[in-house]
Amino acid sequence: MKNFKRTTITTALPYANGPVHIGHLAGVYVPADIYARYMRMKGQEVMLIGGSDEHGVPITIKAQKESVTPQDIVDKYHNIIKKSFEEFGISFDVYSRTSSETHHKTASEFFKTLHEKGEFIEKSSEQYYDPIAKQFLADRYITGTCPHCKSEGAYGDQCESCGTSLNATDLINPKSAITGNVPELKETKHWFLPLDKYEGSLKQWILEEHKEWKPNVYGQCKSWIDNGLMPRAVTRDLNWGVPVPVEGADGKVLYVWFDAPIGYISATKEHTEDWEKYWKSEDTRLLHFIGKDNIVFHCIIFPAMLKAEGSYILPDNVPANEFLNLEGDKISTSRNWAVWLHEYLEEFPGKQDVLRYVLTANAPETKDNDFTWKDFQARNNNELVAILGNFVNRALVLTHKYFDGKVPAQNELNEFDKETLASIKEIVAEVEKALENFHFREALKQAMNLARLGNKYLADTEPWKLIKTDEDRVKTILNICLQITANLSTLIAPFLPFTAENLREFLNIKEINWEDMGENVLENEHSVNKPKLLFEKIEDSTIQQQVDKLLATKELNEANNATIEPAKDNCSFEDFSKNDIRVGTIVEAEKLAKTKKLLKLKVDTGLDTRTIISGIAEFFKPEDIIGKQVCVLVNLAPKKLKGVESQGMILMAETPTGELCFISPETMITNGSTIS
Ligand code: 2FM
Ligand code: ZN
Repeated sequence: MKNFKRTTITTALPYANGPVHIGHLAGVYVPADIYARYMRMKGQEVMLIGGSDEHGVPITIKAQKESVTPQDIVDKYHNIIKKSFEEFGISFDVYSRTSSETHHKTASEFFKTLHEKGEFIEKSSEQYYDPIAKQFLADRYITGTCPHCKSEGAYGDQCESCGTSLNATDLINPKSAITGNVPELKETKHWFLPLDKYEGSLKQWILEEHKEWKPNVYGQCKSWIDNGLMPRAVTRDLNWGVPVPVEGADGKVLYVWFDAPIGYISATKEHTEDWEKYWKSEDTRLLHFIGKDNIVFHCIIFPAMLKAEGSYILPDNVPANEFLNLEGDKISTSRNWAVWLHEYLEEFPGKQDVLRYVLTANAPETKDNDFTWKDFQARNNNELVAILGNFVNRALVLTHKYFDGKVPAQNELNEFDKETLASIKEIVAEVEKALENFHFREALKQAMNLARLGNKYLADTEPWKLIKTDEDRVKTILNICLQITANLSTLIAPFLPFTAENLREFLNIKEINWEDMGENVLENEHSVNKPKLLFEKIEDSTIQQQVDKLLATKELNEANNATIEPAKDNCSFEDFSKNDIRVGTIVEAEKLAKTKKLLKLKVDTGLDTRTIISGIAEFFKPEDIIGKQVCVLVNLAPKKLKGVESQGMILMAETPTGELCFISPETMITNGSTIS
């Protein structure tokens, strides 16, 4: 590898339409943070860049659903995300956002430069337009029947029932998701980046010059290039985003995937006036940490944009990861199937490193992996507590017990001592090798091998059996154990920064330079502190709570997917008009004796006050519904129920899962008002 002076590390900007979850962390932020910390410890100049991706259609849809502005949505989630990253110890040098002024300006200028250089193709095509909302409809804003599986509610870009990718014009009976109207096709102009123009140079650059990229990344790029690259539209008809900065582009913004990666550059600009060296200098190594769904954007489209602009460096590597699933199912923001970082931090205070450890040990580096709470517990209890915590604790406790907390001097070393000490550097070298190849799981495993080495050394030397007879030998043993502990405090620091800090506090030391790790890092007679517990066991009940939380989500999702009753056959207006439905008020309510489901109600119908027996006792307490205005079918033929005559029926809505709700007027109105 070329000798670089500095490393610019970007992390995929998370969409600010939800908090971040363990899938984001395992795929992008934890590995990027480990790498950045490692490089800094090696003395490299590092710029770790993050920020919120605040444009795009899903954000506008969420805002519309919640009747707030897109800015409200992104403000809310940007703050949650930023705070949770900070607490979790992701060591961003800058964490920005794409709604910032600097970003709008930077993205706008980038587009203008390409436009002025004649790098775009302008093309008009027909797209769906909602004449009532007076706007073009993004694919996600059009729903209809899937032409493949015929299910309703397919989106203009994809049918979520059968998974097929669609064009909006493929949908049967398309409808605007904004007004429910049938959209019209209308001509609109857009700017396209001719990726085909860069096909040759991208092919040479990736397929010939970057054969070292991870097979999943290289493979995806190869397949895109082999299939032939086509011009891609980089503008959209939308009113949320960076406005297209050329004439004749009213109501158009840059496509979110055009502006988002430029966000890395804008963030750097916000952080330092000296930003260009991180983006334009040949001695800077640019790395993009992303998930597999972002590969094409970072390996093909963004590099093509950078090439078109002409003054930027290209990424040296894009170590993309596969996906992390949760308890066997795909993580989903919309289905709330996730472990959210901000919730984890609240529910497991002080346990950042446990999650960092589990996500790294189980990172989806070469294939999709699964996070389970059982595995989380097992890795904590059997690895962090039993291997790392246990070794450190024994080394420090014994030092206090036998030598008053002072590092004892080594005496004569035997072969086993020498081998053990020599293993430290060997393990460090293994960790380095793995980290440099972005094999974070392997790197962590190797780092834990240093704690394993310590445990084995203690178990084999048994100083507690020798203290009475051979104190000198015990001094040597504990000196070696403490040297291992001190090395551990450095070696685990990129992975478990909070634990590393605790260890340094126990050992009463400052950070040891990465290059200084080795056999003798602690001086004789140095005083160490009394240790506290480094990790605590996680009990079954704690895990069960998390599992129960997920089960509740699953039940809710299943209930939401419950089938809606099919529509009944048509009835004539005359038939419907036979129903005399009135607004009435429940004036008395009591349980009907010897029944579980029935309430006996007295209802003021405006015509009279009458008795109605209603099967709602499982859903409402009598005292809660007195005074409630309801809809009453007053001309239902009277019927005796359990010996009491019921003179009408209260109308109820029943959800697909069988819950009952009253149908009530929005405001109090006169009893007896008719409903038709
Ligand atoms: O997939 C995503 O979550 C995108 N928001 C990632 C953007 S990465 C970059 F280009 F900013
Ligand atoms: Zn379908």
